[in-house]
Amino acid sequence: MTVEEIFTRTSVRSFDGRPVPEEDVELMLKAAMHAPSAMNQQCWEFFVVDDVGLLQGLSRAAPYAGPVGRAPMAIVLAADKGRMKAPKMWQQDLAAAAQNILLAAKSRGIGTVWIGIAPHPDRMAAVSGIMGLPEGLKPFCVIAVGYPFGDVVPNEGRYKPERVHRNRFVAKDEASSLLRAAFPGMRSWIGGTAP
Ligand SMILES: Cc1cc2nc3c(=O)[nH]c(=O)nc-3n(C[C@H](O)[C@H](O)[C@H](O)COP(=O)(O)O)c2cc1C
Repeated sequence: MTVEEIFTRTSVRSFDGRPVPEEDVELMLKAAMHAPSAMNQQCWEFFVVDDVGLLQGLSRAAPYAGPVGRAPMAIVLAADKGRMKAPKMWQQDLAAAAQNILLAAKSRGIGTVWIGIAPHPDRMAAVSGIMGLPEGLKPFCVIAVGYPFGDVVPNEGRYKPERVHRNRFVAKDEASSLLRAAFPGMRSWIGGTAP
């Protein structure tokens, strides 16, 4: 896998039904478990789901979970409260693991879409019920996995240099007065036409 997967990954919501090879599932799970986690707590559990009834159930667990019902498989990510050393951080840990799954899948030509579950209590309760999770396991997200149906259209370029800040926050007004102070003869052209 290279950084290329980061730039070419896109959510896939229609699948062609081909099963995902077991070795690729294992690659995704290994990638997930290599994610960073707070205090290295690794409190994650992964449920590989290919049971059609469960997939259909999960596709109704959240308002936009429809793709799960069209996928040959899904991975449900959950966190084990009993293994949390930094309990407030579990969702960040699970998000890092989820992203690794998406990228590992992409490296094998496999499509995914992340279905958000936590922190919505209703969605968490629905997934827990469908999956039979005990109280100590907190569902985080469901990832639909499968080979894309049709062409995958790459995302638009998203890099926006104006979202990048160097050092402390500087408000726009402050930035212009700093510039005026530095260049006293300068007319006010910031945001307008350059002299
Ligand atoms: C926390 C989170 C929750 C999401 N939930 C859903 C969802 O419920 N249904 C869905 O189809 N896509 C869901 N997505 C996928 C986003 O819609 C998608 O990542 C976003 O539109 C950007 O498109 P891209 O993934 O193709 O770059 C979710 C993504 C994240 C990170």
